[in-house]
Amino acid sequence: MVLKNPASLEAEEFRKLKESLVKAITSPGTFNNIVLITSAHHGEGKSLITANLAISLAQEYDHTVMVVDADLRLPSCHRYLDVKPEKGLADCLAEGLDVGSALVKTGIPKLVLLPAGKKTVKNPLELLSSNSMRRLMTEMKQRYPDRILLVDTPPVLLFAETRALSDLADSVVLVVREGECSLEEVRECMTLLNNKVLGLVYNATSYAPTAASYADYDYSSCLE
Ligand SMILES: Nc1ncnc2c1ncn2[C@@H]1O[C@H](COP(=O)(O)OP(=O)(O)OP(=O)(O)O)[C@@H](O)[C@H]1O
Ligand SMILES: [Mg+2]
Repeated sequence: MVLKNPASLEAEEFRKLKESLVKAITSPGTFNNIVLITSAHHGEGKSLITANLAISLAQEYDHTVMVVDADLRLPSCHRYLDVKPEKGLADCLAEGLDVGSALVKTGIPKLVLLPAGKKTVKNPLELLSSNSMRRLMTEMKQRYPDRILLVDTPPVLLFAETRALSDLADSVVLVVREGECSLEEVRECMTLLNNKVLGLVYNATSYAPTAASYADYDYSSCLE
């Protein structure tokens, strides 16, 4: 995980990313704390970036951070955060489990995970676009107003629940892996995501910044 080496260029990119994010979601009197992370396709780096960004935020900001694994099809935040989940979001939605009792400590101060939950969910779209999900997101926003909630999701071009979730989020970060997503697809994602995209994270770029070029390196990348 990148933040094992806080002096690395990758860790520095995450610092820049989180600073931009915090600035974008904070304005006098408002804190737009629910941020969705998605991408057009599978494997572009959403979950890895969610985990690293969460760690970076928890380590250096006053805010507490909650990662919500809303990828009920292919949950992986628990792996990146190295925890063993039992219950989670799907159990809250399907069985009315209290969110507080599903949260898992990550071992990193100020960072908790709401795992995806139940091993197999037959109806992720139905669950995530339900009124229960809407209520749960509202409840989380009210119950944890000073937390940043990073919501990991399935790819938006493939699954309708991500579009429904973007409706409930304050803003969206779109991960674009080099060579995996065309400009046309980026545009399509932005429309599907209700024009809530705050910015793009350009991941796994072949452009490797040197110390000299570093000041001009605007995008964020990450490495395990
Ligand atoms: N910048 C990077 N450098 C090297 N490997 C990366 C990078 N970003 C992601 N990966 C690797 O790519 C794979 C996919 O990453 P990740 O699980 O974060 O993607 P995802 O967008 O969440 O995929 P899915 O849609 O299937 O959930 C993982 O093996 C991850 O370790
Ligand atoms: Mg993922």
